[in-house]
Amino acid sequence: MAEKREERYTMSHEQRMIELLTRRTAKHNAAFFTPHLRPSMNVLDCGCGPGNISLDLAQIASSGHITGIDMEVSQISMASAEAAKRGITNATFTQANVYELPFADNTFDAVFTHTLVSHLAEPAKGISEMRRVLKPGGILGIRDLQFSNNIVGPRDHPMIGEGARLFAELMRANGGDPDVGHKLPSIVSTVGFTLLSATSSSDVFALPDDIDWFGQWINSFFALAPIAGRMMELGLTTAEHIEEIQDAALEWGVAPGAFFAMCFVEVVGKK
Ligand SMILES: C[S@@+](CC[C@H](N)C(=O)[O-])C[C@H]1O[C@@H](n2cnc3c(N)ncnc32)[C@H](O)[C@@H]1O
Repeated sequence: MAEKREERYTMSHEQRMIELLTRRTAKHNAAFFTPHLRPSMNVLDCGCGPGNISLDLAQIASSGHITGIDMEVSQISMASAEAAKRGITNATFTQANVYELPFADNTFDAVFTHTLVSHLAEPAKGISEMRRVLKPGGILGIRDLQFSNNIVGPRDHPMIGEGARLFAELMRANGGDPDVGHKLPSIVSTVGFTLLSATSSSDVFALPDDIDWFGQWINSFFALAPIAGRMMELGLTTAEHIEEIQDAALEWGVAPGAFFAMCFVEVVGKK
């Protein structure tokens, strides 16, 4: 399998990004995976970010344990603080790189990962490492982007489509793959898992408060240095064009017919 070499995490760990991640829940974002969990399980969440999904999983594995890993130390601090705030004692968070997990072979009953693999230049290598730390018979759950299948309303909105196109180009330039979703069934099978399910679902912004919030979010996301600055550094666009996208996002968020469904593919595999 041909894999790219250079890798740089696109999204940044700026507050605006964290605001998107802290809207996530296991009820929605891990619904494909939670039926496989049992209360006593020892579960690993790779690329846990601020830990919202991990801590929901900890409540399902209530007599077991959740370990969240992330390469970024600020995420570990946030996730640990959120665990304390929620009074959750069966979750711990550790700084680590998914390519070199600091755990022995056959440690976990289940491994989960949400929107990490699309940022990996070597997805099969990362997923193989997840497999290494799973016990034989252990369960892997991955949910990740299939960005070219997002649904934008109104369908012909030029600037929202343009913003999405530029963002996807930036992810690719940083070594990631915003369309890794449709490749996941093949990758997990290739690295040795038995594929138990492959499904698709969306994160939808449609109701007035949600889509207004998302328009504002796009507006400020495109102002961030790791997004706007990096796009310009790579010669993908200009400051003027970014401003046009930002203005359009604000107008779109409050316009009739504004709708955004972010497309994801979900796979469950068994070691
Ligand atoms: C888009 S966030 C997803 C966070 C969380 N899973 C969620 O869905 O809300 C991806 C996270 O993966 C982390 N990450 C990126 N590359 C990584 C790597 N090689 N090893 C470990 N974590 C990584 C980033 O720091 C970031 O917090």
